[in-house]
Parts: sequence; C-alpha cells; structure tokens
Amino acid sequence: MNLYGFSQHLLTSAFLLLAASSCLFISLLYDHKASTVRVTPLSNLGEKYSAAQPNGRVYLQQKAENSSNHVSDENNCGIAAERRFDCARDRALTQSECEQRGCCYVPLPQSAFSGPPWCFYPVSYPGYRMGALFPTPRGQEASLTRSTRSYLPRDIQTLKLEVMAEEAGRLHLTLKDPSLARYEVPFVTVPPSTSTDTRSLLYDVEFQPEPFGFVVRRASNSRVLLNTTVAPLLFTDQYLQLSTTLASSLVSGFGEHYTGLTLDLNWTSVTLWNRDMAPHRDANLYGSHPFCLIQEGDGQAYGIFLLNSNAMEVVLQPAPALTWVTTGGILDFYVFLGPDPQSVVRQYHQVIGYPMMPPYWSLGFHLCRWGYTSTNATRAVVQKMRQANFPLDVQWNDLDYADKRRVFTFDPQRFGDLPEMVKEFHHEGMKYVLILDPGISSTSPPGSYKPFDEGERRGVFIRNLTGQTLIGKVWPGPTAFPDFTNSEAVSWWEECIRDFYAKVPLDGLWIDMNEPANFVQGSVLGCPDTDLEDPPYVPDVIGGQLNSGTLCMSSQQALSTHYNLHNLYGLTEAMATYRALLKVRGSRPFVLSRSSFPGLGRFSGHWTGDVHSDWEQLRYSIPAVLLFALYGVPLVGADICGFEGDTSEELCVRWTQLGAFYPFMRNHNDRPNAPQEPYVFGQQAQAAMRSATMLRYSLLPFLYTLFFQAHTSANTVARPLFLEFPSDPNCQTIDRQFLWGSSLLISPVLEQGALELAAYLPPGTWYSLYNGQPYNSRGQYLLLSAPLDTINVHVREGHVIPQQVPALTTAASRSNPFLLTVALSSEGWARGELFWDDGESLDTFEHGDYSFIIFIAGQSQLVSEPVKVNGALDGLVLGEVRVFGVSTPPSGVWANGKKVQDYSYRTDTKVLTVSSLSLLMSETFTVQWAASDITNTSHLPTVY
Ligand SMILES: *[C@@H]1O[C@H](CO)[C@@H](O)[C@H](O)[C@H]1NC(C)=O
Ligand SMILES: *[C@@H]1O[C@H](CO)[C@@H](O)[C@H](O)[C@H]1NC(C)=O
Ligand SMILES: *[C@@H]1O[C@H](CO)[C@@H](O)[C@H](O)[C@H]1NC(C)=O
Ligand SMILES: *[C@@H]1O[C@H](CO)[C@@H](O)[C@H](O)[C@H]1NC(C)=O
Repeated sequence: MNLYGFSQHLLTSAFLLLAASSCLFISLLYDHKASTVRVTPLSNLGEKYSAAQPNGRVYLQQKAENSSNHVSDENNCGIAAERRFDCARDRALTQSECEQRGCCYVPLPQSAFSGPPWCFYPVSYPGYRMGALFPTPRGQEASLTRSTRSYLPRDIQTLKLEVMAEEAGRLHLTLKDPSLARYEVPFVTVPPSTSTDTRSLLYDVEFQPEPFGFVVRRASNSRVLLNTTVAPLLFTDQYLQLSTTLASSLVSGFGEHYTGLTLDLNWTSVTLWNRDMAPHRDANLYGSHPFCLIQEGDGQAYGIFLLNSNAMEVVLQPAPALTWVTTGGILDFYVFLGPDPQSVVRQYHQVIGYPMMPPYWSLGFHLCRWGYTSTNATRAVVQKMRQANFPLDVQWNDLDYADKRRVFTFDPQRFGDLPEMVKEFHHEGMKYVLILDPGISSTSPPGSYKPFDEGERRGVFIRNLTGQTLIGKVWPGPTAFPDFTNSEAVSWWEECIRDFYAKVPLDGLWIDMNEPANFVQGSVLGCPDTDLEDPPYVPDVIGGQLNSGTLCMSSQQALSTHYNLHNLYGLTEAMATYRALLKVRGSRPFVLSRSSFPGLGRFSGHWTGDVHSDWEQLRYSIPAVLLFALYGVPLVGADICGFEGDTSEELCVRWTQLGAFYPFMRNHNDRPNAPQEPYVFGQQAQAAMRSATMLRYSLLPFLYTLFFQAHTSANTVARPLFLEFPSDPNCQTIDRQFLWGSSLLISPVLEQGALELAAYLPPGTWYSLYNGQPYNSRGQYLLLSAPLDTINVHVREGHVIPQQVPALTTAASRSNPFLLTVALSSEGWARGELFWDDGESLDTFEHGDYSFIIFIAGQSQLVSEPVKVNGALDGLVLGEVRVFGVSTPPSGVWANGKKVQDYSYRTDTKVLTVSSLSLLMSETFTVQWAASDITNTSHLPTVY
C-alpha cells in the first residue's frame, strides 16, 4: 500500500478524466451521500486561465519611473495596485533582488511600506503543480510538487493536499508534508462528521493545478468566497504563505488586537503571537485567534479558520484580500459556509468546542485590585461594599496575598488568616478568587518551596535547548515555567492546587501572565543562536523578536518546541487548571485566563487585560467583548473603570453601566492608581453604579439562560447587531451598541460629558426596559436621553425576558421571586425561555438535572410551560409580570383563572403591571388580561 492508498483503477480513471478535459481546470462536485468526487472540466475558466499561463519564470526589466498602469501585459505585471501581492514579505528588496525572484518591481508614488507593494508577483508566478485528485475514505487527496525552488530556505518540495467535505456547511482542506510529520496543533478535537444525509453542500471547490490554487464558491449564488490563485503558495520549513481574495471588505476576527468590530483592510496587517502587552493599536496582544468571519453584504456570511499555532501575520489589502504568513506547522483550513453569520459562528464552534457553562455566581459582580495588601484591607473593602448596599458576589486578591510573590503560598503576616477570611466570605454568601501565575519561583532554599522542588523532581518544567530547566524572571524573581503539554505537569499542577485548596478554600482561579510573560528575553541566560530564535521571517511582533517578553523559542516542551507551542500556553494552562479545580472542588470550575487560543472557552473566561482608564479604551472594550463571542469565549469583560491610570468619576460611572452588560463583570485596578471601588465616589455616582449593577442582577436569570444556549447551541451571549440582523446594512459595523441574545439592545454612553446618544434601532418595535416606552423604528438612529444615572436598554418586540428581584449576592437573589418582562409584538405575541439549575454542579444539562421553562404570550395572556422541572425550582415563585404594548386598558386580570386585584395600567406607555403574584415556577401558570371575563381558559394558545 502506498502512502495514498488509492487503487490502480482509480488512478487510471482519474487520469482519463483529466486527459479528457481540454483545460487546466477541474471542478469538484462532491456527491455527499456516496462521499466521492466527480471531476468535471470547467471550460470557461480553463480558457481564461490557459490564455494567461506562460511557462516558467518571468523576469521583468521594468524601469523604475514607469507607472504601474502602463506596464505592458507581456510582463504579466499589469496588475491593479490593490491586487498586488507582496513578493517581499520576508524582507525589504532592491529592484534587482526583486527581479531575481522573478517578481515585478513597479514603484508607486506612495511608500513601499504603507501602501501597495512595489515588488509583487506577476500573473501565475511559479509554485506547486497539483496532480490528480483521488478519493479517500475521508474525502480526496492530491499530490503537489514544485519543480523550481522558491526564494526561501528549505522548501517542502512535495505536499499532500487533502480535501474533506465534512458537513454541508464546512469545507476542510489540509496541506502537509507527506514524508515527514510536521508539528500540528493538538487539543482541537473535531468531532467526526455525522452527516450521512443527502443535504447538498453549500459550496463547491475548483482547483487550478498549476500554479496550484483553488477557488471556493457559494453554491447557491456562485459567489467567489476564496480565490487563492492570486498569488503563489509557499510552503517551506519556517515560512508558509497563502493569499486569497475575499467576497467583501467586512472582515471580523484575527484577534487579539485593539480594533473595531471590522478590520481595516487598507494595507494593514495583524500579528497573532501571544504577548503580555497592554491593549493599544497595532500590537499583538494576549491571545491568538486565526479565524475571521466575512459578511457578504447581503445577509450571508462565511468564516475561515487556519488551524495553526505558529507565529502568524495576516496581511490585509483592499482588493479585498488577505495573505496568511505563518512560521511553521501545516496549513489546516476550514471554511464555514453559514449561510447566515450566526451559523458561521456555530460551525466554527463545532470545530473548536462549545463554551463551558459558567457557575451562576460568576455572573455576579467581581471586585479586585492589586494593592489590597492584607486580609484586613480586603475585608474592609467587602464591608464598605455592604455598607454602600452594593451587590458583590466575588471578592478577589491579586498577587498581594502571596508570600514573596510565590504562588501556592500566602504571606504569614499580612495574609496569615486568609483561610478564615475566605470562610467568612462564604458565610456571607460570597465567593473568593485569587490570582495564579504560572511562573514557579526557582530560588527558594531547597526544601522550603514544594511546588518547585516537586516540579523539578517530576520534571514538569519547560527545558532549555540543552535539557535543563529554563529559568526566566517574573514577579517572584527567577522562575521556572510548567509545561502543561506534559501529563506529569498536569497532575503536579493538580496536586499544587489541591494542597493550597486544603488551606484556602478558593472558588476559582485567575490565570494571569500566561502568554507566558517573562521579564527577561528568552531566559536569564538569553537564548542560543538557532533558526527557531531567529527564523527567516519574523512577523511584525512587539519587541521585534519572537522571544521578546517570553521564553526561548528553542526551549523544549513534551509535545514540541516552544516555537510551535507558544500560542497554546494559556490554553493548556486553562485546561490543566479547569481539570484540577474540577477534581479538587468537585463542582463547575471557574477559570479566568488572559492568554487565549481557539478552544479556550471550553475551560475558561477571559478579560481583556491591562486596559487604560480612558474613554477610548471604554469604547473599544465593546468590539473586544463581541469578538471574543465569535471566538467561542462568551464569558468576557474588560476591567471596569480601567486598570492602568487614574479613573474619573464620570468615566467610572459610564464604565460600570457598560460593564453591567459585559458577560463577565469585574472592577479591577492597578496598585498606584486612585481607588475606584464604587463606594469611593459621590452619592449620585454611587446611585448610578448601584442601579446599573442591580439591573444586571435582576437580569441574571436571562443572562444565565443565554450562557446555557451558548453552551448547548453555540449561540452568542453578547452579540454584535449584524449577527441578529444580518440583512440590515446599517448593522454591519455597529460596535458601540450590542445585544444580549436576540432581545436586549444595550446602547451605552461612550463619550465624556455626553447626556444623550444616537442609538440605532433595527426595524421593529423596541421598548425601554425601564418603563416600556415603545419606539417603532423603521431602522433608524434615534437620539436617546442618557443622563448620568441611565444606560439605555431596549427590549425587542416578541420577547419575554425572565428576571428576578435582585439582591446583594446571587446566593440571595436566586431565591427571590421571578419577574417577567413581556414585550408584545405588533401582532400581540411574545416568547421567552428560562434555563435553571443549581448553578454550580457540573454538566447539569448533560445529566438532565435542570429545569427549562418556555413562556408564551398571545391572545391577552401569558402562559408558562415547564418543559422540564427539577428540584432547583423548588419554592420559587413568579412575583410580577410587566406586559409592554397592551393596546387597550384591561378591565380585569386573572392569574391561574383567579381574579387579581394588584395590577396597574398606564395609558401613556401602554404597560400593564401585575404585582403581588405568587405563582409556582415549577407549575404551568396563566396570567390573563382582558376587557371581558375570560376565566374560560379553553382558548389557551398552543404551546410549541
Ligand atoms: C481568481 O483570481 C485570478 C487572478 O486574479 C483571476 O484571473 C480569476 O478570474 C479569479 N477567479 C475567479 C473564479 O474569480
Ligand atoms: C489608505 O491609507 C492611505 C495611506 O495611509 C491613505 O492615504 C488613504 O486615504 C487610505 N484609504 C482609505 C480608503 O482609507
Ligand atoms: C486584622 O484586624 C483584627 C481586628 O482589628 C486584628 O486583631 C488583627 O491583628 C488584624 N490583622 C492584621 C494581619 O493586621
Ligand atoms: C540551560 O540551562 C543550564 C542551567 O542553567 C545552562 O547551564 C545551560 O547553558 C543552558 N542551555 C542553554 C542552551 O541555554
């Protein structure tokens, strides 16, 4: 059996088919049922291409003064400036160096570094030649070979292309070295395709055999989504490059960067390389997400995921087009066909894993600061929060707690009674989380610091090139770094957490500095001079070198070199920490990680790092949160009021209002700054912060249900407007407003001094969440009043929002009466749902240990349908119903057929409020309102 395992018969018939075609193009139409490929000629394209195909390399003798628009076509350099693909990505070239590469050198008036390249590929620059495609059990494969060498060292001369039609909406395409296994990203475990039905694929793929490239189209309208024939494929040991055009310029993704919701394609680039770096423009930040979603402009969307963890740069140009340049691994592409943007997100999450279900308490308010220097100082904060009547679920400590800043210890003086403090917090219904950095101090006297001694004994640390523990420098001074790709390290980590937990019964862990951050470059001894430290091409990273601010690239981990695994450090630490917390605490883990990679959301939430206390950072926190929703990390938020620098009262109020709608809500401050706990501000500011936070607490049943939907269906929690209204062109780039689920529109103030804002309301009726005031929008911006005590929140018609009377902790609020806000559509109906469980057991959905209730309003009544009930609902009641959009004053209200006295109706806002109810949530209930006696319930709406 040869490498490809195809039979002689298949080989022959495929060649016959190819020979029969008169052109270079073949089109692959997958017969999904039979999982085979029909190879058919595409004559129209073939002609086009064969006409433009010269053989061999083209050398251009172009004079510098010639303008690009006048280059004769015989040089194959007559390419419009915006469609030039850079032939000198790896380094700056002179004209003659450029031409030696066989590339076109045509200067432009603007600089070669900020606009279109001067040195670019001519039409059909030599690359790989693709052989015939053969069916395999998983799809098809072909061999790619290159006959000429590229301009980079260590070409992989022969590649194996595999094309897998895994789902109707998912194309999977890989390019690997068939003769030598190269590094591939571990831990992303794609569930095997289950589709055996006859759904037709949403796409088709065509290949250009030489130079190799492919075109992916949307089957329904033939729109070209990817066209990689625009520039050559390069595949060398440390430089892999592929370019493609895109169907539109509305590209969202490729985090983590300080950007808006859609990227700037005006000759920019984004680098994916995890780095301890405070958010600012044009910098590679803490996480890497080689995924983007592209809105096609007509409501459809597609996504592209390049599963590769090496240092990567994505070059963006206005064509619209992009070029991936990665420094290792293989090319492992997924294309998600949607067709709507939410389906793209779901298809992506099917590959990287659906997000975890967070504990209920983690949706409450969190308070932290670097600088709570003792248990008593921490206690005082909690006490002041209580005195100010402010909700607080989770009190945190930064590294202040640790003895000599070493993790898994606590300072015997300042934090000597840490265990008692945590127990006190628990007694008050609160939770406690502390920071845990990965760096393990290596300079404690032997026998005095078990985490290092045991770690060394068990060989858990990352090693330098010569096999000794690599020593870097972080907060405690010299440190070693656990290798979380080593199973021995994972169990050592669990033991460290178990030992610590036996003393300090913490509720969750905050894993910081896990890019990993290092205060010295590479190691305390520097790094050896190798191709890994100094590759032929270094993407545009902060610091200019890959090992800047982190470990040596040549250092060794169990699965591979740090060069390959760097971007996975935070993910692997999150996996190990999640697993340890689960084993040690036995309940749903809470982990918050700074560094991230696809799949993080299965184990952890994320905060956006060391944001600065200013208005611009407040504003850009929204796209940051929305993008992490696309990346499958719905539990995300920015540090409220800002982490670095002094906040101001107004900024902190506005940030708390917005933060009340971050899925993860934490106020966190840096050591040297003015304090920013809510209680330090004036009474008016405090009141504004309190009411926003109370509003959040009242909405937690709804928020929790959204997390349930994210966990089970890959829906997003905080959601960009375009995801919900894909066909509304006004929504394509909105990132100053966002939604919770489908139904709550949040429009925060993001400017200093603003007391009103222009908010976009998509077509339909939207009701103010506060008072039910309706706005009938034709899809327009409305000027909304936004005094300091107000964040505008609107409920979308047709939705029922489950709420609960708030309290100062979720432990208390979870047993309060529920409230339902019913926003009737113009046709008079609404629908909503509630997921409820004990809030902390693992896998309650998977084990069927939960309650699920559907609420349906229509025909002047609201009906609940408890689809599933468990003990978590015991004793809980519905206390109040607000119905928005009741057009005529009701003459009576009935609850479960009994007349209710305590209700009110406002003729101005058309809101009916029914109070003093006490209807068991675990049983079906009916609330009716009408002008006539309707105690006869025979016409209840059908529950579907
Ligand atoms: C793909 O790009 C090439 C090069 O720009 C172009 O000639 C060709 O028409 C494109 N193919 C399709 C299907 O758009
Ligand atoms: C693109 O950038 C260039 C130079 O930075 C600028 O002159 C030009 O106006 C920009 N184009 C667009 C469409 O923003
Ligand atoms: C904390 O306060 C208590 C009560 O005032 C006091 O007894 C204790 O010594 C203080 N602990 C520290 C570490 O300062
Ligand atoms: C690895 O670490 C050991 C011990 O610190 C040191 O002696 C050795 O030179 C280091 N090797 C490299 C390649 O840095």
